[in-house]
Amino acid sequence: MSTLKIRVLNKEDWGIYKELRLLSLQDSPDSFGSTYEHEIKFSNEEWISRLDHDNRANYALPLIAELNGVAVGLAWGLLHNPYDKTAHIYQMWVSPSVRGQGVGRLLLKKIISWAKEFDFESISLAVTTTNIAAVHLYKTTGFEPYGSLERLREISALYAQPMKLKLCDNAA
Ligand SMILES: CC(C)(COP(=O)(O)OP(=O)(O)OC[C@H]1O[C@@H](n2cnc3c(N)ncnc32)[C@H](O)[C@@H]1OP(=O)(O)O)[C@@H](O)C(=O)NCCC(=O)NCCS
Repeated sequence: MSTLKIRVLNKEDWGIYKELRLLSLQDSPDSFGSTYEHEIKFSNEEWISRLDHDNRANYALPLIAELNGVAVGLAWGLLHNPYDKTAHIYQMWVSPSVRGQGVGRLLLKKIISWAKEFDFESISLAVTTTNIAAVHLYKTTGFEPYGSLERLREISALYAQPMKLKLCDNAA
């Protein structure tokens, strides 16, 4: 029987986080604003600092998905500042070998529960317009497009669509 576990990453996990994040950037360069070439230059201290709970308080939720103990997925919920009411999703990635089995939806569900727990009003993200799987995942979870398309990176032919999930009636 296989066991899928989603858990919060702590700074002791920086090695596996670094490995997974770099793998995701190599595997899916068209899905992220950042690049492998940029993040491979990060020092170990930078990877540790991203996961340092003292730095992020309750305003970040870095998640890892593990299938039978093997890391297969990553996603972050993040609040840019403590007074903000909109949380953001970044770094969502599932290993190609286990895609289509509900790991992405589960990661998303955990971030939505976290955002509700802290009374955030909405969750936003940006998804590359050609990313059929991710657009489907977000739309069927209730995210709706808003605002104008943004270039994925300064020099890129790809565009990302901002999407928002409203968690309460008065969300902007
Ligand atoms: C997007 C991604 C995270 C989805 O993860 P996943 O674990 O495969 O997703 P799930 O298995 O939970 O599937 C979620 C939904 O997407 C659908 N889906 C998955 N792959 C699909 C595809 N290639 N085309 C259309 N729909 C697809 C599933 O059928 C499911 O919908 P359903 O419940 O209505 O059947 C994964 O494809 C991925 O890591 N892609 C590369 C990185 C990326 O694009 N990240 C998003 C950045 S915004």
